[in-house]
Amino acid sequence: MTEFSIAELLASRERSDVDAWGRTINPQFARVLRKIGFDRQWVRAEGAYLWDKRGDRYLDMLGGFGMFNVGRNNARIRSALVEALELDLPGSVQIGASPLPPLLAQELIARTPARIERVLFTSSGTEAVEAALKLGRAATGRARVVSAAHGFHGLTLGSLSANGNAEFTQRFGPLLPGFSQVPFGDLDALEAELRQEDVALFLVEPVQGKGVNLPPPGYLENAQELCRRFGTLFCVDEVQTGFGRTGKLFAFEHWGLEPDLVPVAKSLSGGYVPVGALLMSKAVHEAVFDSLEHSVSHGSTFAPNELAMAAGLATLHELDEQELVSRSARLGDRLFELTKPLVETYDVVRDVRGLGLLWAIEFAEPDGGRRSYRLLERMQAGLFAQVIVVPLFREHKILSQVAGHGIAVVKGIPPLTVDEDDVDYFAGALDATIRKARRLPRAVAKLALTAAGVR
Ligand SMILES: Cc1ncc(COP(=O)(O)O)c(C=O)c1O
Repeated sequence: MTEFSIAELLASRERSDVDAWGRTINPQFARVLRKIGFDRQWVRAEGAYLWDKRGDRYLDMLGGFGMFNVGRNNARIRSALVEALELDLPGSVQIGASPLPPLLAQELIARTPARIERVLFTSSGTEAVEAALKLGRAATGRARVVSAAHGFHGLTLGSLSANGNAEFTQRFGPLLPGFSQVPFGDLDALEAELRQEDVALFLVEPVQGKGVNLPPPGYLENAQELCRRFGTLFCVDEVQTGFGRTGKLFAFEHWGLEPDLVPVAKSLSGGYVPVGALLMSKAVHEAVFDSLEHSVSHGSTFAPNELAMAAGLATLHELDEQELVSRSARLGDRLFELTKPLVETYDVVRDVRGLGLLWAIEFAEPDGGRRSYRLLERMQAGLFAQVIVVPLFREHKILSQVAGHGIAVVKGIPPLTVDEDDVDYFAGALDATIRKARRLPRAVAKLALTAAGVR
């Protein structure tokens, strides 16, 4: 019998990982990585840092699109996973009850408003949203779904039908019938839809991830009130904002909301195991799972699985023990205070905004116009943001992202384990990068154009 070893497999690989991805997974993505110089051979990760083959350390301001709130390769989550594996647990009996799912469900329910009493586990964020769409329809007996323009809820067909960004939806139609959108922040438009009393649910992110759009004052509270008045379920998508990202465990706490449906995912398992959940009111659950015949009306083979549950339990414990939620609020404030003055310093900076460690900087053509900026934006809207992201990575060893297609917004969603020095370093590097980028050397602009293909 030959021994199987991941370490040996890794040691014996002949190609760079980017080459191997290009051959077997996605050649276009590999091309983009090479062109913009993001084609590092990554060898290790811990907390808020990644190391490449050369031994250089990178600050991770991207956090795996928000799945590493407790830090990459968190040793305590790993121990829980190893322990769960060693226990040979009777998971996924399927027609039977295993021990860990109700323990995690109980911990989640204990951390949410009284209205939330049931948990349906999934394996991703988009599946949690799909569950909300299906259960919302069945519970209300209504077909329509309203969501917000520029919203993002995942890329499977149901979630995509609620997506407010054409670049994700075009080429994949027809989408599901019965979906419409209202501008984020527009209560009149929402009321016009809801007063028809045929809308099953209003699906909204408390802070929109694409663009990092904060809700106008009073918007979410009034949206909830409108939902209650017209018999529509209020569904707050916390897939990205949940688990401390905005300085509260769930972002809806900032406005004292009591949603009927809350999809969560990403950081729930500490970034180790695919996981998601739909947190919901008893009323919704009981309207759908209303008889023996309907006892398994929705589900998925791997959800819930014991490893995801073990990681979820350990993650909630870690968020508490390390006080990561208040840390997110504190370091988010620091990041905002350090970067807000950039609006005054640089005419290309239009806005700096954020809530906890969900942060963004927006660029715009200066008043009076600037030819170089206009040329760049004419090549492609939002390109200036790439002119920031590329040198941040290459010169300052900071991994960040543009906050969406066609918008000049750079976004930061680091692991909540970042420290004061990291935040200060990022703010300094950003300042230096903007100062340089205003001169827009042609080579950087070209790189940015290529990078614009990266989500
Ligand atoms: C708000 C929101 N909802 C849903 C999703 C989809 O989650 P997943 O990528 O796990 O399917 C995302 C992913 O970025 C998200 O940000």
